[in-house]
Amino acid sequence: MDLVRRRAAGAPLQYLTGLAGFRYLELQIGPGALVPRPETESLAGRAIEVLPPRGTVIDVGTGAGPIALSIAHERPDARVIGTEISEQAMQWARKNRGQLGLDVELILCDLFEGVPNPLRGRVDVVVSNPPYVSESERDALPVEVADHEPEIALFSARDGLEIFERIAVSAKGWLRDGGVLLSEIGDRQAGVVARLLTHLGYTSPAIREDLVGRPRIAEARWRG
Ligand SMILES: C[S@@+](CC[C@H](N)C(=O)[O-])C[C@H]1O[C@@H](n2cnc3c(N)ncnc32)[C@H](O)[C@@H]1O
Repeated sequence: MDLVRRRAAGAPLQYLTGLAGFRYLELQIGPGALVPRPETESLAGRAIEVLPPRGTVIDVGTGAGPIALSIAHERPDARVIGTEISEQAMQWARKNRGQLGLDVELILCDLFEGVPNPLRGRVDVVVSNPPYVSESERDALPVEVADHEPEIALFSARDGLEIFERIAVSAKGWLRDGGVLLSEIGDRQAGVVARLLTHLGYTSPAIREDLVGRPRIAEARWRG
């Protein structure tokens, strides 16, 4: 009855069961980390596709680790790094890494701040599902999200694009020539994101669709 009451009050089902499926993995999940979403499975899949053999990938804002852990699981040849600013979210990522026995370097830091310096200019793929909800969209969020998932995982200033822009600017210093930036975006952000990537000097910006055909993945190459 306690579970039913919490669910009726809007607690996400995955916080109550403590489990979330993502690609081939079953992840432990709970308050403090975003519940991994099906659309993010396409983003992780694209990162796996573009990553060259024995490539290096950084997952910025790894949360409970769905993207980083899936890449490590499906591409054991890769070097996988996940960064995260929230200690609470990072605890879930560490728990999942331990439980699944996967090789991911987890770094508690702001964006790329704690990534080892020798990796500058050598990273093949930067992938992120950043917070991208704008303040003006707050009232439209379902109660499961607005009242239960962490603010820091959801909201970003400047129409939801501040964190995305900071990632795109910083990623230029970490990607190798020809390296790929991949980011989940809100479905109304495609136009402005494509223009921003071009403005920042990325080439061939493209917006990919998720499984239901919404423009949700931004992809571009860095020509350093
Ligand atoms: C939308 S959630 C994505 C979580 C997970 N990657 C996923 O796809 O389910 C965004 C994540 O970015 C983290 N984050 C927000 N700002 C950050 C920053 N400046 N540096 C690192 N991580 C950040 C949040 O704590 C949150 O875990």
